[in-house]
Amino acid sequence: MAKERAVVVGAGGISNAWFPPLRREKVRVVAVVDLNIEAARKQIAQYELEAEASDDLKATLRKHRPDFVVDLTVPDAHCAVTCAALAAGCHVIGEKPMAGSMAEARRMVRAADRAGRLYMVSQSRRWVDKHYAIRGAIGAGAIGRLTTANCDFYMGCHFGGFRDRMPSPLILDMAIHHFDLARFLTGADPVSVYAREFNPRGSWYRGDAAADCLFEMTGGIVFSYRGSWCAEGCHTSWQGDWRLIGEKGTLLYERDESPRGQAVRKAGGFHSELKDLKVPVRAMKHGGMHGALREMLAFLRTGRRPQTECHDNIQSLAMVFAAIESSRKGKRVPVRAM
Ligand SMILES: NC(=O)c1ccc[n+]([C@@H]2O[C@H](COP(=O)([O-])OP(=O)(O)OC[C@H]3O[C@@H](n4cnc5c(N)ncnc54)[C@H](O)[C@@H]3O)[C@@H](O)[C@H]2O)c1
Repeated sequence: MAKERAVVVGAGGISNAWFPPLRREKVRVVAVVDLNIEAARKQIAQYELEAEASDDLKATLRKHRPDFVVDLTVPDAHCAVTCAALAAGCHVIGEKPMAGSMAEARRMVRAADRAGRLYMVSQSRRWVDKHYAIRGAIGAGAIGRLTTANCDFYMGCHFGGFRDRMPSPLILDMAIHHFDLARFLTGADPVSVYAREFNPRGSWYRGDAAADCLFEMTGGIVFSYRGSWCAEGCHTSWQGDWRLIGEKGTLLYERDESPRGQAVRKAGGFHSELKDLKVPVRAMKHGGMHGALREMLAFLRTGRRPQTECHDNIQSLAMVFAAIESSRKGKRVPVRAM
C-alpha cells in the first residue's frame, strides 16, 4: 500500500519518541531537518532511515513535497517552521506548546486557513487510556454535574537546555499539558484566570518554574492548578495528581494509579452515605505520540479532523498566556484564544 511521506524537523530529544511510531505506521520519512545537521544525521543513522539530512527546511520541502511535516523543534521555532511548511502546501503535526506567544499562534491558525491545510498539535497526554476513562465516567454522570477540578504537579527536573533559560518554563512547557488535560477531562473551555508565577529560592531555572493558577471554566467549573518544576522530593506523576468533584461525588487520579472515586448512595445526615466508584479503564492500543500520529493519518485517509487541530488547541495555549499575563498584572484576566 502506498504510504504517506513525511519530513521531520527537529532531531532533538523528543524525536526519539516519534521515529518508532512513524516506522510502525510505515510512514516514509524522506528527510530530517535540523539547524544542527549532525543531529539530523545521527537520528537518520540511529533509526536506519532512508532519508536525507538537511539544515535548509524550505529547500527540503521544495525538493521532497511531503504529505506532512512533523515539527519537533523548540517552542520558539514552531511558528516559523509550521508556517513555512503550511505555505509549502504540507499538513503539519507539531509538538506542544503550539507557539512561544499568542500572536505567533494566531498567525499559525491564519496560515493554516490561508493554505487550506491542517495544522494539529500533538498534545500527547490526550492519548492516555485512564484519561479517556475519567472523561467517560464524568460524561456518563458518575459524579453528577462537575463543579471543580484540582491538579497538583510537583517535580524537581534538571533538564539543562532551553527550559533552563526560557521565561515561564513550567507554565509554557509543562502546564500546557495539564491545562489541555483540564479541558479534555471536564469538557469545558476557559473563561478567565487569576495566577501567580514564581521562581522558588534556590531554583536552577532562569524563568519562573512554579505557579498557582485559578481558572474559571465554562459551566461555572473552577479549575485550580498548583505546580513546580523545581520541587525536590515526593514527586507527583507527570500527569499531575487530580481531584474532580461533581454535585454527587468525587474522582481521584493520583500517581498514575487507576482512577477511583466515591459517589452519594443516599443523601441525609452529616455525611451522605457513599458508595465506591469503579472507573473502568480500557487499554489503548496507540498511546501518546502514536495516538496523535494516528489521528493525523486518519485525517489524511478519511478527512476526519483531529481533536487537537489548531483552532481547538489554541484555547489550551490561551490558558498559558492568560496565566502569564495575570501573574504579570497581578489581577484576574479573561482567557481569549483569537
Ligand atoms: N509531549 C511531550 O511529552 C514532550 C516531551 C518533551 C518535549 N516536548 C516538546 O518537543 C519540542 C522539542 O523538545 P526537545 O526536548 O526535543 O528539544 P531539544 O532541544 O532536545 O531538540 C530540539 C531540536 O530542534 C532543533 N531546532 C531548533 N530550531 C530549529 C529550526 N528553526 N529548524 C530546525 N531545527 C531546529 C534544535 O537544533 C534541536 O536539535 C518542544 O516543543 C517540547 O516542548 C514534548
